[in-house]
Amino acid sequence: MKVLVFDNYEAASEHAAQLVEAQILENNQSVLGLATGSTPIGLYKNLIEGVKARGISYKNVSTINLDEYIGLPREHSESYHTFMAENLFNHIDISIDNTYIPDGMSPSPEEECVRYEENMDRVGPIDLQILGIGSNGHIAFNEPGTDPDSLTHVVELVASTREDNARFFPSIDDVPTHAITTGIKSILRSKKIILIASGKGKAEAVKQLLSKEISQDFPASYLWNHNDVTLIVDQDAYALVQTEGQ
Ligand code: F6R
Repeated sequence: MKVLVFDNYEAASEHAAQLVEAQILENNQSVLGLATGSTPIGLYKNLIEGVKARGISYKNVSTINLDEYIGLPREHSESYHTFMAENLFNHIDISIDNTYIPDGMSPSPEEECVRYEENMDRVGPIDLQILGIGSNGHIAFNEPGTDPDSLTHVVELVASTREDNARFFPSIDDVPTHAITTGIKSILRSKKIILIASGKGKAEAVKQLLSKEISQDFPASYLWNHNDVTLIVDQDAYALVQTEGQ
């Protein structure tokens, strides 16, 4: 795992965008794996700027998102469909037919998982996967205890994840209880992975990740089993690693 530490969130986001754009310049038909949440917003802002400022085109790019809440209609303000439209897709020249996000309103979420995994096989492999990390070490919605051989599956969100995400909803009771998430095995099939961590709230998780101990209790630790992972971290998220080392 390559670890890159930046002064702040802006610098970390800018670097992540440079890596994504380099991938697209190398292959304009790249398949990107995308995350939602607060972390990648800065990256997406930079990618949007890159369309005008650097002439980057997403015309032939495909994207596969990590996850979606179950029970939120696509048009719901907090669905990941809406998040991706507002924070990226509406502002770049991507064809919406080339973007994939699980359908959280499927009458059969289990069948949707199978369909989504088939999509990944057909469209993928993912050339470059973007990940954030939960304060409990989750990647996508693979919560502690997730089987490392997991493919796309239905997950019950743990209390800490619902609390973390309650900031986007009127109250914690409005946070969905279940989601569809790509699995650990699905994620590790990506050719390259970038994990971004920013802010003090991620400092414990970054410290745990960099202890290199692989454990089912800390899903992000499975990234040590992949040979091309770059951790992009800001000083706040890296703070506990530095303190320990001094
Ligand atoms: C989102 C996702 C989650 C987030 C994680 C961190 O698609 O898969 O694993 O990356 O919960 O969320 P933020 O960035 O909001 O701290």
